[in-house]
Amino acid sequence: MTTHPDHWNHLYASGGRPEWDMAKATPVLAEALELAQPFGLAPGASVAVPGCGFGHDAAALAALGFEPTGLDFAPRALEGARARYGDTVRWAEEDWFTTTLGPWDAIFDHTCLVAMDPPRHPAYVAACADHLRPGGLWLAVAFHDVQGRPAPPHAIPMKELRQLVEPRFDVLHLAEAACSHPRRAGREYLLVARKR
Ligand SMILES: C[S@@+](CC[C@H](N)C(=O)[O-])C[C@H]1O[C@@H](n2cnc3c(N)ncnc32)[C@H](O)[C@@H]1O
Repeated sequence: MTTHPDHWNHLYASGGRPEWDMAKATPVLAEALELAQPFGLAPGASVAVPGCGFGHDAAALAALGFEPTGLDFAPRALEGARARYGDTVRWAEEDWFTTTLGPWDAIFDHTCLVAMDPPRHPAYVAACADHLRPGGLWLAVAFHDVQGRPAPPHAIPMKELRQLVEPRFDVLHLAEAACSHPRRAGREYLLVARKR
């Protein structure tokens, strides 16, 4: 059951890297930060990274001067994150749906949304809104094509994501990612949305 930490812990347990892990921050992070900068996102801002896995994106945010919280409910993910990046990031073993650590200025969501079973998408969007300060930004990387692989990840058409987020957010940017990792080129897109 993907809703339970055991499911993910098991995937991290082999001692190697799970299939989705890229061993470094996604190149889409830099693209997202550039798009968000005109809307006020700058170093010093607090940024939640839900489902942070081995922590590459959270560590890259810390290196750029942001104040990230790398959050994951799978203990082995955070073990891997700490082993790689030590205490350069605040790591939190929490469930994104129930954490009370926020609110944050922004969220960088790299394949946490798409890891959710579709019936949970509305609650996930509500959690993102609840964990942001008013005017906070949600930067999300999602797939519109998973090449027929068994889910998760789940493909989410851009139009569907827009409909999901619009009740709580203003959509500032929603388009194909320009800087994808070659393994994901042409299959992923980027959302920048501002909490109302
Ligand atoms: C596909 S992995 C992506 C990991 C990382 N973002 C990356 O790209 O390498 C999804 C991650 O979300 C975490 N996760 C799933 N549901 C979660 C929840 N409700 N709260 C916190 N973490 C969750 C899993 O443990 C897993 O580490």
